[in-house]
Amino acid sequence: MASDFFASNVEKVLISEEQLQATVTRLAGEIEQTYGDSGRPLLLIGVLKGSIVFLADLMRALHLPLMIDFVQASSYGAGTVSSGTVHLRLDLKQKDLSEVDVLVVEDILDSGNTLSFLLDYLRSKGANSVRLCVLLNKPARRITEVPIDFEGLKIPDEFVVGYGLDFDERFRNLPFIGVPKREIYENC
Ligand code: IMP
Ligand code: MG
Repeated sequence: MASDFFASNVEKVLISEEQLQATVTRLAGEIEQTYGDSGRPLLLIGVLKGSIVFLADLMRALHLPLMIDFVQASSYGAGTVSSGTVHLRLDLKQKDLSEVDVLVVEDILDSGNTLSFLLDYLRSKGANSVRLCVLLNKPARRITEVPIDFEGLKIPDEFVVGYGLDFDERFRNLPFIGVPKREIYENC
């Protein structure tokens, strides 16, 4: 592993930087196929904070006119288990969605509670279309079914960090997706 920081906190690398970049490139191709000649503005909506690294890479891989905005929801407290109740913490800056195609960009689909809430909310705002792009899909943990339009990679039922994903606000800056060492949870 590349550094002491990585080595002392990460049990194993699940998805390497190269795999992440290949996944982003594939997803960008699929997204361009869908929206390439829509004639409407595309609005990427990143779900804070976990999506920011993925969004930053994905938007630069998309050769389309687009805008970005952000929402933030909360269902997790500190730790690895969702509380189940979702709140909107930060709303869109752009209020009128009537002319745009919305693509929600999220780091991971886990229980589905957050995205189910957010997609319902965004659909209620009257966008021309609302689709979903997730980097990681953890199907074993699903409670609420959420259809994915653009799916990066399926992962097993393990808690992961890096590439935007955190444990207790840490490890978002790892350039790969990894599984943190057991003692990281246990010391919390
Ligand atoms: P949900 O359970 O599908 O509602 O996911 C809620 C949020 O929890 C996701 O957007 C992530 O930010 C976070 N989350 C879910 N699984 C993981 C994980 O394995 N590592 C880090 N964050 C996670
Ligand atoms: Mg998230």
